[in-house]
Amino acid sequence: MIELGDNGRLWLLSGRTSSYALHLTDREELLHLHWGPRISVADAAALAREPLPPPWPFESRLDGVEEYPVEGGPRFVRPALSVRTGQARGTEWRFADSDVDGDELRLTFTDPANGLALTLHYRMRDDFDVVERWVTAAHQGADGALELLRADAAAWTLPERDGWRLSQLHGRWAAESRLVRSELTPGEKVLGSRRGHTGHQHLPWVALDADGAATEESGEVYGCALGWSGSWRIAVHALPDGRVQINGGAGHDDAGLVLLAPGQAYTSPVFAGLWSGGGFGGASREWHAWQLARVIPRAGEPRPVLFNSWEATGFDISEDQQRALAHRAADMGVELFVVDDGWFGARTHDAAGLGDWSPNPARFPGGLKPLADEVHALGMQFGIWVEPEMVNPDSDLYRAHPDWVQHQLGRSRTEFRHQLVLNLARRDVRAYLWEQLDGLLSSAPVDYVKWDFNRCFTEAGWPDEPYPQKLWVEHVEAFYALLDQLRAAHPRVAFESCSGGGGRVDLGVLSRTDQVWTSDNTDPLDRLAIQHGFSQLHPARVMAAWVTDSPNEQLNGRASSLRFRFVSAMAGVLGVGGDLNRWSAAELAEAREWVALYKEIRPVVQLGTQYRLRAPEGGLSAVQYTRGDDTVVLAWLQAQRHGELPPAVRLRGLDATAAYECLDTGAVHRGAVLLHRGLATGLRGDLDAAVFRLRRAR
Ligand code: DGJ
Repeated sequence: MIELGDNGRLWLLSGRTSSYALHLTDREELLHLHWGPRISVADAAALAREPLPPPWPFESRLDGVEEYPVEGGPRFVRPALSVRTGQARGTEWRFADSDVDGDELRLTFTDPANGLALTLHYRMRDDFDVVERWVTAAHQGADGALELLRADAAAWTLPERDGWRLSQLHGRWAAESRLVRSELTPGEKVLGSRRGHTGHQHLPWVALDADGAATEESGEVYGCALGWSGSWRIAVHALPDGRVQINGGAGHDDAGLVLLAPGQAYTSPVFAGLWSGGGFGGASREWHAWQLARVIPRAGEPRPVLFNSWEATGFDISEDQQRALAHRAADMGVELFVVDDGWFGARTHDAAGLGDWSPNPARFPGGLKPLADEVHALGMQFGIWVEPEMVNPDSDLYRAHPDWVQHQLGRSRTEFRHQLVLNLARRDVRAYLWEQLDGLLSSAPVDYVKWDFNRCFTEAGWPDEPYPQKLWVEHVEAFYALLDQLRAAHPRVAFESCSGGGGRVDLGVLSRTDQVWTSDNTDPLDRLAIQHGFSQLHPARVMAAWVTDSPNEQLNGRASSLRFRFVSAMAGVLGVGGDLNRWSAAELAEAREWVALYKEIRPVVQLGTQYRLRAPEGGLSAVQYTRGDDTVVLAWLQAQRHGELPPAVRLRGLDATAAYECLDTGAVHRGAVLLHRGLATGLRGDLDAAVFRLRRAR
């Protein structure tokens, strides 16, 4: 809901439990007024009448209170907008227009000196607390080019508090999305990626709580998350007077984002923000609900249990061997069979074949269709792996078009994993990829595409292009456009975003993919920490997790039971990635039971409300999912100490007066007891785990 006040110079956006207000002063300054619990227009108007505190010597009266600080004039904070023309740098703007269109507010400003029109966009839906913000910058002048060095999607302003704590998700390959919280000290904390993709190092998300006072279930939490799959930056700055602003947008360094000719415009990604009064758990639940309702395509459809061949067979694949795996997978209850890397071109190892997207005739003599048909006959969907944005120098594509990769004349072409990045900003490259991928999806009944991206940009140049810098943004836009085009042409095909595990997980890619590959780390214990971090922002419905072989040969040699591996992976979209040809009959039979159990609890896990009951740092961790009358609790014990029984886990969100039957033990518990005393898990020893299904009695 959007309400106006102060003769149309005050705007109040309100959602389920929170409000956001801003105000245009008589001096045409756009000031931030409020972001927090719901208030009325009268409250906002009263705030607008309060004079700004007098600035300290050497400080600007606008810093820390302005809604979208630009470079130029009396401002010393990090600018959200930085513009360069032939003559000048910076912006001096005038208010031009405001416009309310349903739940979207648009405020437009212009800079007469250079012809730039900047529109701030806001959207807040009645039933959510997420505010979506983005900007469009248009060159409305008659001549000359405008270079946007930076055009952040938003700058968020937090209220005054004594101090702030910052939560972030950091990592690297095989160790993504690990949660860390630290005191925000004066200065700037900058997170981001200079890599051309979202990156494993930071998820584009931050959360801030005042005075470090929030807990999992109580206190005020602000969260901000960026929807962009290229290089990005989020800067959290604690100003000298204790105020905090958070800028975020595409591009890391201010080296140039886009060059606008007259008539051209740039649209930033969305930088979404929310306020929650319900602690970190409340903030996460709000993010999840909003993504399920508004971001993720077809989110109401639960994702199938998949088998993926990567850890089982690597590059050494053949049609017969995949067929044998498919039979075992189908027997186990798997619903989607995915052939990973190695099915195309000369891809018998990682140094060849990327770019040549037709089945390897020695491995799949009749193409993919015979295998896909057999997989379908077994009652499963069929999926394949691709990495369209890349090329191996040892490929027909590269031999024919060595100039199609990002490169700079006279410089090396650095290879990672023996591959180079195609320049998707080029029209001919995009046309080639569309033709290949559309052809592939038309040549065989493919239901699912795992779309991988296995290296960062280096020497990201484009000889002969006057403004090569634009490829950083245009690559991502082309990737999005290709996905959108493929989804439109093949509406029943689902897509998974993968980048060597979780290197491309963000709200932008999630608005056009059905799930993401969380991490190449499939060790079930490590995964608990990765999944705990992931759940801060994203729901279980998109978090793919596989059960692989034990001991875990890839990473650490750790041995774990099938039970522990399954219960760990059942916290998200369950998959199986072990070499089923080597699993014993007993293991296959046990796996079948776990898959059946997962299918039963799947709607609750994937679409329910999630409560993190205990974080994985301690010996015992647990997550609860509730949907309607059904509740599922997954619990894991890392190691029992000193013979002590692990504590009961206290549940959340239940009706204290209702009775809940545990379908696994037959016991009936009063809601108040589950909330207050908790559920005894009975877990023992090392790496133990259990699933509890509770149903509310009517
Ligand atoms: C990286 C992915 O994360 C893996 O799951 C697998 O698909 C390999 N690439 C294949 O090359």
